[in-house]
Amino acid sequence: MSKDALIIFDTTLRDGEQSPGASMTKDEKVRIAKMLEKMRVDVIEAGFAIASPGDFDAVKAVAEAVQTSRVCSLARALEKDIQVAAEALQPAALGRIHTFIATSPIHMQYKLQMQPEQVIEQAVHAVKTARNLIDDVEFSCEDAGRSEIDFLCRIVEAAIAAGARTINIPDTVGYASPEQFGHTIEQLITRIPNADQAIFSVHCHNDLGLAVANSLAAVLKGARQVECTINGLGERAGNAALEEIVMAVRTRADIYPVETRIDPVHIVPTSRTVSTITGFAVQPNKAIVGKNAFAHESGIHQDGVLKHRETYEIMRAQDVGWHTNAIVLGKHSGRNAFRTRLQELGIHFETESELNTAFTLFKQLADKKHEIYDEDLQALVTDTRAAN
Ligand code: KIV
Ligand code: ZN
Repeated sequence: MSKDALIIFDTTLRDGEQSPGASMTKDEKVRIAKMLEKMRVDVIEAGFAIASPGDFDAVKAVAEAVQTSRVCSLARALEKDIQVAAEALQPAALGRIHTFIATSPIHMQYKLQMQPEQVIEQAVHAVKTARNLIDDVEFSCEDAGRSEIDFLCRIVEAAIAAGARTINIPDTVGYASPEQFGHTIEQLITRIPNADQAIFSVHCHNDLGLAVANSLAAVLKGARQVECTINGLGERAGNAALEEIVMAVRTRADIYPVETRIDPVHIVPTSRTVSTITGFAVQPNKAIVGKNAFAHESGIHQDGVLKHRETYEIMRAQDVGWHTNAIVLGKHSGRNAFRTRLQELGIHFETESELNTAFTLFKQLADKKHEIYDEDLQALVTDTRAAN
């Protein structure tokens, strides 16, 4: 089956930085951007150039440092924002301006205090202004997840006619559900007459824990760019996690008709760097990048994995940048895992009865301790030998 390209647009340095307490210095952003480039991310949103002089400098520094990924700056649908974004992107080998305006009734009425017709006019003006400064322009309908479909069709058609080549449909407040969000994307692509002149993108927030599911539902209905962040960082509950999108598409190639350019081996090192720089720890059970993502503690699972890895693993730990999967010895571990670990440590018992004694001591210790380390095993072997 021939596959479409799925563009990975990473916004760790922009939306990710909007996580309260996650702000990054210019040098830190450059360091992460280089790792994203190495991972072969297609588009790196480096910041919101007009937000502060520091953000302007960071976008510019990333634009200077990165060669093969496209570097993007966010800009409201305002001339000044767009001009500042273009200036910051001046050094970019490949640049993009990402301009946005809100399209939901609640945002238009209370936040923008504008009539829908004025919103369309401002969007068109913004896209044309950006296109006069740069070839690659993305337009986003902020709060599209709560916008009316007829209005979305009208504004998106107008933005494409004005020159936007990527149309982003954000679920800004994480309100969508997979079936409904997929349907929205399908409606837009089938109803808008000039839809074939743009790539449809999605940008899902995780307020209901559905950001990845919503993004993937959109991919099934024709979205060909996903906006996401390392470790799912982002405003409030965060964005769709890059590592989950990339590995879902790759692992379930039977379902998703797309492939990314990402080299997944860089995922874990990049996750670690983002976590260290932002000070945001990765939860142990986080998919792909959590420390337990490839660890097995229960005896039944350990026994299965030792016999055939795929009994309990759907991905290879090494493929995403872990050194190895982990058999963690604890109270649920079985004899096979225990014996295997002893062999790996070069410990052999002469008799089966010695092994039985050691295994009994191990179980007693495991009831008192969460995890049994190699040093515990060494001590336990000494006790066993003394007892026999
Ligand atoms: O969540 C959102 O709507 C955004 C846009 C600016 C793309 O971050
Ligand atoms: Zn967002």
